[in-house]
Formats: sequence, structure tokens, C-alpha cells
Amino acid sequence: MNILVTGGAGYIGSHTVVELMKAGIDVVVVDNLVNSSKESLKRVEAITGKAVPFVEADIRDRAAMKKIFAENKFDAVIHFAGLKAVGESVQKPLMYYENNISGSLVLFEEMAAAGCKNIIFSSSATVYGDPAFVPITEECPKGKITNPYGRTKDMLEQILTDIQTADPDWNVILLRYFNPIGAHESGTIGENPNGIPNNLMPYITQVAVGKLKELGVFGNDYDTPDGTCIRDYIHVVDLADGHVKALNRIQQNPGLAIYNLGTGTGSSVLDVIHAFEEANGVKIPFSFKPRRAGDVAVNYCDAAKAKKELGWEAKFNLTDMCRDSWRWQKNNPNGYED
Ligand code: NAD
Ligand code: UD1
Repeated sequence: MNILVTGGAGYIGSHTVVELMKAGIDVVVVDNLVNSSKESLKRVEAITGKAVPFVEADIRDRAAMKKIFAENKFDAVIHFAGLKAVGESVQKPLMYYENNISGSLVLFEEMAAAGCKNIIFSSSATVYGDPAFVPITEECPKGKITNPYGRTKDMLEQILTDIQTADPDWNVILLRYFNPIGAHESGTIGENPNGIPNNLMPYITQVAVGKLKELGVFGNDYDTPDGTCIRDYIHVVDLADGHVKALNRIQQNPGLAIYNLGTGTGSSVLDVIHAFEEANGVKIPFSFKPRRAGDVAVNYCDAAKAKKELGWEAKFNLTDMCRDSWRWQKNNPNGYED
């Protein structure tokens, strides 16, 4: 199999490229490096012992995309490329719609033109909004989305659904990720946020490594056992493996299929802090802060559909995730700049 991986130099993309190559699948990565570095792919090459074919290009660049499809015959596309910072998307909605929507439209058009009609798309649990019920199954109705980033995910799900309805030759798998954390066991690739992290685990690891003083815990008055928000954290290597399994599924011509990728276990913010401290023997100073706008109290999935239809389930627990996140951060205090 030969797969085009858009955004393959990024956090989830680089881990997925490792798992694809380990499974003997050929890949070509296209990335404009707007939120990543070529170094991640060098490290993927060191892990796998194989070269990673890489095209530095923007998916909005039609000529570049045409050239990629002309020069390769792909069985499927795994589409990670996109901007993903929630707060930034509120400040710069046009940038998010232009990059995520326009870029995807060019990609889908060039796929159709090349006759490559199999796509796995990175969606998000954010499409469930404040979920109608937990654990969240794929049947859960979509909820009110509070930011442009999340709306691009919702819109792209709809656009791909419409494309598949119009032309049943398309196979579309929408993967709704819960909260990916952790890093490859080698400690050589991981999440590398720009500036002060917005997300919980990179914030914790930067406190642990001494770059930030203390963690602010956003809200301790939620209707949860310890008052802090509950999320479904999933190891990025498990998530990567979910893409390998989804590729097997796409070869069975599923038409449109949607899967939650999470562990099915909810952990509170305090659970994560304590798990990190125990796994790594490092203290995380924290204080409670007001709630963060847009946060929902409880969000975790029912991952039974992915188990049944993809033969996939998460293998790593929260302790593994904390250990691997810390190994990456400790070995690379400045990410790929070290
Ligand atoms: P990331 O920023 O590390 O990776 C995205 C990659 O896409 C980057 O390497 C970036 O340079 C590239 N990119 C962005 N715009 C591009 C363009 N126009 N042309 C070419 N390349 C472009 O993010 P990630 O965490 O690896 O996320 C991957 C995908 O999964 C994204 O679509 C994201 O929205 C989605 N997702 C992520 C999470 C999460 O918590 N990390 C959760 C749900 C969904
Ligand atoms: C966030 C985004 C979501 C996106 C996902 C992956 C929001 C509202 N949601 O999910 O759309 O798909 O990231 O990029 O931004 N927390 C703290 N202190 C911190 C950081 C986080 O207490 O410094 C808490 C949050 O309140 C939340 C939990 O930790 O309860 C997880 O936060 P985060 O890692 O940002 O993920 P989500 O908010 O679930």
C-alpha cells in the first residue's frame, strides 16, 4: 500500500508514519512545516531505519498537489494537515477557515482528479460539543461547537459526507480523536507546541522541566467527583495504530464510517497530575483558577465500535502516557530545537 500523509511532520502524523512504516506500508508525507519541523521526520527515519519520502508543500498549492498525485499512485490519503489552536482560531477565524477548509478542498479535488477516493480524516471529539450523554458513542448527536477550529472539523466531516453521498466510489473514515498525549517510547518524537502550551499535558511537562512555574487548574467546581474536568486521554501511539487499522477497514469499501478513538476511561485534571507525579517522581505545583471558557465538564467515549469493526483498542494507560510524555520532554526540553 502507498499512502499520502498530509501533515505527517506534526505530532500525531509523525507517530502515525512510524506505525505505518512498521506495518510495511509505503508513505509520502506532505507538510508545509507551519507547525512542525523537518527534524521530526529525521527522527522517524532513525526509529524506523528507513527514508521518509517528504514533499515540503502547502496543501492549498494546487500545482504542488497535482504534481504529488501525478508522480505517485496512492491507495489512500490520511489527512492530518490543519491548524489546531482553539484560542488562535477565535482570534483569526479567516486564517483557520482558509487553511483548514480551502486546503482540504484542494486536496479532495486533486484526489478525485487522480482517482484516489479513499480518505481517513482527523476529526475531533469537539464535534460532540457538550455531549448529550457519556460515554459518547458515534450515535451521539453533534453539539454546539464553541470555536472556529472545531467548526472546521464539523464542516469537513459534512463536506466529506456529501462527497461520499454524491459518489459512492469514495470511502471516507472520520476518526474522532479524544485527547491525545504521550510520545513514542524512544523519547525522540513528541508534541512540540509553539510558545506557552494551551493543552494540559504539554503544560504539565513544561512545569516539570522547569520552563513554567506552576500549572493553573481551570475550575474545581464542576459536577465531577473532584470538581475538575474529565477527559479521555489516549496515548498517541495507540491513536497512530488506529490509523493503521482504519486503513485495513478502508480496503473493505465501507463507504462512510465514523469511529471514536479514545480509551473509554475518563480522568480528571487532578487524576492526570497525580498520575504524572507518581509515574515520574516529579512534583507538579498547581493552583486552582477560574473555569476556562468553552470547556465542558465531562467528555469520554465508548470505543466499542472501533473495537468491533477495526479490531482496535487502546493498550496504554494513563501511567504509560505520563511516563512517555515526560521522557520526550526531559530529553528534548526545547522540542526539536535541541
Ligand atoms: P500538528 O500541528 O502537530 O500537525 C499538523 C501538521 O499539519 C503540522 O505539521 C503542520 O505543519 C501541517 N499543516 C498545517 N497546515 C498545512 C497546510 N496548509 N499544508 C500543509 N501542511 C499543513 O497537529 P496534531 O496534533 O498532529 O494534529 C493532527 C490533526 O489531528 C489536525 O488536523 C488536528 O486538528 C487533529 N486533531 C488533533 C488533536 C490533538 O489534540 N492534537 C485532537 C483532535 C484532532
Ligand atoms: C482542547 C480543545 C479541543 C481540541 C483539543 C485538542 C478547548 C476548549 N478544547 O480540548 O477543541 O480538540 O484541545 O487540541 O480548548 N487544563 C487545565 N490547565 C491547563 C490546560 C488545561 O486545567 O493549563 C484542563 C482543561 O480545563 C481541561 C483539561 O485540562 O479540563 C484538558 O484540556 P486540554 O488539554 O486543553 O484539552 P481539551 O480542552 O479537552
